[in-house]
Amino acid sequence: MGRVQDKVALITGGASGIGLSTALLLAKEGAKVVIADFNMDGAKEAAESIKAQGGEAVGIFLDAGDEKSIKEAIEYTVEYFGHITVLFNNVGLTNLQKDLDVVNLDLDEWDRLMNVNLKSVLLGSRFAIPHMIKAGGGSIINTASMAGFTGDAVRAAYGASKAAVINLTKYIATQYGKDHIRCNAVAPGLILTPAAKRNMAPEVLDIFAKYNALPYHGEPDDIGYTVLFLASDESKFITGQTIQVEGGHYIANPSISDFNEWMRKAHN
Ligand SMILES: NC(=O)c1ccc[n+]([C@@H]2O[C@H](COP(=O)([O-])OP(=O)(O)OC[C@H]3O[C@@H](n4cnc5c(N)ncnc54)[C@H](O)[C@@H]3O)[C@@H](O)[C@H]2O)c1
Repeated sequence: MGRVQDKVALITGGASGIGLSTALLLAKEGAKVVIADFNMDGAKEAAESIKAQGGEAVGIFLDAGDEKSIKEAIEYTVEYFGHITVLFNNVGLTNLQKDLDVVNLDLDEWDRLMNVNLKSVLLGSRFAIPHMIKAGGGSIINTASMAGFTGDAVRAAYGASKAAVINLTKYIATQYGKDHIRCNAVAPGLILTPAAKRNMAPEVLDIFAKYNALPYHGEPDDIGYTVLFLASDESKFITGQTIQVEGGHYIANPSISDFNEWMRKAHN
């Protein structure tokens, strides 16, 4: 018996990174998974690799910025596997060229990020909830970000959209808990997804590592295992929460690292 045996899960942005890790883990633990992604070839490839290992999966196209496409992905899941009991609203975008500080950020980019990062969570949940109620309940998990808890020099739209995801998670949990639907979020710190590895200079990765409490970076499976737990009945009394998976990067006074350095020098 797997940890999520026979649950039916739709994973958005499942062709890469955090979504892909989660799809593989859920399938390994007995869930039937629909991998939905802009990158349809990647989604199909991921589904094939799950099937090759004896799991049940299908890959489909999704544009998380489009209401009709989100509705179709939910309907497809219910038609293909009979119901839906897990929804992982994982798609999220950032844009370091246009999502800048408050004075300079591009307003069209603000709207685009709010649509893809936030409204997609609302819509995925809106279309899935009636089916989950029919199925006797379910678990919705949203990908937030530590950027939803903190300020930053840039990415004001991204941070605001993820902060809203954190609170929307509580609203969904409050409104549908009595229907046996739980809703939680996971807030990753820096996770070394292929995209993060590609886009970040080694110097930037070093800065992140310096301020982690742990001596290593996060990996997609660190988020995948958290989502697996939230999808499973092991977390049946947890709802409305956002679990921070961030290597202890944000737990201490930010000046601790500099004080440690100062004390190291003072004692040498
Ligand atoms: N990697 C990190 O360090 C990190 C940190 C905090 C939060 N997050 C969040 O984690 C989530 C996943 O990020 P990731 O790092 O795994 O990214 P990723 O780029 O590896 O994967 C994202 C996937 O989403 C798909 N996608 C993008 N736009 C889409 C759209 N409009 N419709 C459907 N699919 C779309 C892409 O094709 C890709 O397969 C995002 O919500 C992101 O904000 C990531």
